Amino acid sequence: MLDIDKIRKDFPILKIKSNNKDLIFFDNGASSQKPKVVLDKIKEIYETKYANIHRGIYNLSQLSTEAYEESRKIIQKFLNAKSEKEIIFVRGATEAINLVAQSFGLNNFEKGDEVILSQMEHHSNIVPWQLLRDKLGIKINVIPINQDGDIDLNNFKKLLSKKVKLVSILHVSNALGTIVPIKELISISHKKKIPVLVDGCQSVPHMKVDVQSLDADFYCFSGHKIYGPTGIGILYSKKDFLERMSPYQGGGEMISEVTFKKTTYQEPPHKYEAGTPNIVGSIALGTAVDYVKNINIEKICKHEQNLLNYATDKIKSINEVKIIGTSKNKAGIISFIVKNTHPNDIGVILDNHGIAVRTGHHCCQPLMQFYNIPATIRASFGLYNTLDEIDSFIDALKNAINLLR
Ligand code: ALA
Repeated sequence: MLDIDKIRKDFPILKIKSNNKDLIFFDNGASSQKPKVVLDKIKEIYETKYANIHRGIYNLSQLSTEAYEESRKIIQKFLNAKSEKEIIFVRGATEAINLVAQSFGLNNFEKGDEVILSQMEHHSNIVPWQLLRDKLGIKINVIPINQDGDIDLNNFKKLLSKKVKLVSILHVSNALGTIVPIKELISISHKKKIPVLVDGCQSVPHMKVDVQSLDADFYCFSGHKIYGPTGIGILYSKKDFLERMSPYQGGGEMISEVTFKKTTYQEPPHKYEAGTPNIVGSIALGTAVDYVKNINIEKICKHEQNLLNYATDKIKSINEVKIIGTSKNKAGIISFIVKNTHPNDIGVILDNHGIAVRTGHHCCQPLMQFYNIPATIRASFGLYNTLDEIDSFIDALKNAINLLR
């Protein structure tokens, strides 16, 4: 069991009042709060170790470079990647997917080739492929889901024609909470020699992810959802892709030699990290990942499953509520609608109670179109949330429904 009281003390923001009420933060799917170790690390680096990296002969630059590269190793171990050279620092999952679309897709796909996505994708795993489609004339095919929000692997198999060049799919749905059977899906794709990119934004902070055991070709996540800073994320890629692909952006850091005639590039990962990177963000992401690792990701997963089960039972007992996303395999996310009310109205009343939830389409408009709804109310849990907070949330929700009736 996690010592939640102790964990909560690590997060300064959990002490604040919101609308004069104790803050209940149930919007971890959008972004999570930061523990003091991460905040302290940011300050420490700027105060004692800050200089540009990989450039300076002087001591300070070397200290900064060491901290940056150390963070890469922490993340490599956390994901169980074979080598730290397979870990690329990017701005977030959005940039990671755009990188793969441009560096891999643009150079390897041709008119008529196909990319497979799912009905649940976040816009960040749709639009990059549409940009590529507009340039190259590729086709995007979509794996359907059922009303529960599950993928049928037989339907998936049917889409795997000879023209498919990539499957790009989320591990956990940010809007429904569905956990996709990603290992099976990768194994099926690999039998047809099709590589797979996994968007792990909603999985990496909440469950054990082992990229070698999954055999993912690309796997990405955003740092700010795993208790790290904004503006930093990770693309894991198998080494042979990184060696074969073209750079994403050109600039300093990523080159070996530049003449006006020709430029040669650094080896991965540096080949994909053009310009001065988010040095402090990268280092602080390592601290956040260490924080999660020390608490133990399996225990976090169990705790969040408890929260999910408890909240699901309670919410089901409210007649006016309909849960959207009822898969048997879910992470700690509950999306729902309330009969005859707009999600935003419920969200505003919950906010008056100090409860932060997200209302809207969750950057998943095609998924909302599937359910024929404009929006949902979404409670998404993190490691510091408690059963008591769920009780307060349920009371506030009942209050909102009475007010709006
Ligand atoms: N993708 C984030 C969410 O689910 C922003 O809210």
